[in-house]
Amino acid sequence: MKITISALKADIGSIGGHIIPSQALLSEVKNKVQELGKELIIDFYISHTGDDIAILCTHERGVSDEKIHKLAWDVFLAGTEVAKKQGLYGAGQDLLKDAFSGNIKGMGPAVAEMEFEERPNEPFVFFAADKTDPGAYNLPFYLGFADPMYCAGLILSPKMADGFIFRIIDVENTEKDKIVDLNSPEDIYDIAALLRDNERYVIESIYSRASGSQALSISTTRLHNIAGKYTGKDDPIALVRVQGEFPATGEVLAPFEIGHFVAGFMRGSHIGPLMPCKLNSPISYFDGPPIVTGAAFCIKDGKLTEPADVFDHPFWDHVRMQISEKATAIRRQGFSGAAMLPYSELEYGGIVERLEKLEKKFKLV
Ligand code: 13P
Ligand code: 13P
Ligand code: MG
Ligand code: MG
Repeated sequence: MKITISALKADIGSIGGHIIPSQALLSEVKNKVQELGKELIIDFYISHTGDDIAILCTHERGVSDEKIHKLAWDVFLAGTEVAKKQGLYGAGQDLLKDAFSGNIKGMGPAVAEMEFEERPNEPFVFFAADKTDPGAYNLPFYLGFADPMYCAGLILSPKMADGFIFRIIDVENTEKDKIVDLNSPEDIYDIAALLRDNERYVIESIYSRASGSQALSISTTRLHNIAGKYTGKDDPIALVRVQGEFPATGEVLAPFEIGHFVAGFMRGSHIGPLMPCKLNSPISYFDGPPIVTGAAFCIKDGKLTEPADVFDHPFWDHVRMQISEKATAIRRQGFSGAAMLPYSELEYGGIVERLEKLEKKFKLV
């Protein structure tokens, strides 16, 4: 049976700043998906990660389906009305366009989708991150799919011996999707050369070279490229099929132990370590550290099991403590140097005016 998994995520308002959506907002989203999705979807799961709400749904309509995208857009619009009524902060924050035009991609919400022939057992993980951008996934998924130090299956499982194809997108190109396909293992130096630049080159998808089947899909929207100014961070989602011809769940999770430094944090303008958190976690501290959650499922004929919370285990408590130390260490240097993003990322915010005024005060002597 050919199944599509679509994950669509947006920040449409939250309590107390950029922290957590209200229960009323989450209920509205759930009720609306149920009501509008009756004829369209097989199953769905609603969750939030920090201040972002995600609709995960299964159906048989393929990727980029207008009706599925319209459903999500209408649900996010209905949610925005509740957010406005409750006076939530940033009501409708990620809905950057006025009218739906066929595909929700490029309108603000994050989208990750995959269509595939369902295996007899079909495990996958839905990742959602808050207070960061799509490049946050570059390192963990590079390690999980291309490095035998993390993915033991690359040397232990014949099903993975041929490696994977990495489709990488240049997110600076806004006119069209500018992509390149590179093969692991032989192109890993080229893959690393691109993926070192998390703000420009982003993994969009990964495919098994043995079967051609898609293993992974990541949302790659950069909001400032759509809005022309800073409107919030791009808080990316990812769908990853696991086991069999793909890495085992633990091989995909293991690199998240690093808590690598990513862009985001307060006002989307800083660098902070990515902290793996439990499902439905709120945000605290300095609007961060950036967080990532993971919900693992199995599906049968498109029907979802309940989610398994992949970062809800004593091991990750220890990791979170260590990452907290990394977060405070970099925060102690405030705005200085590596703690804040370079000007190329800040130029969508208010610092531009300040620097323009200052430029006039400079004298050549
Ligand atoms: P597969 O059976 O999917 O190859 O996974 C093996 C395993 O035990 C993973 O840890
Ligand atoms: P969000 O993108 O999660 O709304 O965060 C925006 C922000 O500026 C946090 O300080
Ligand atoms: Mg927000
Ligand atoms: Mg957010």
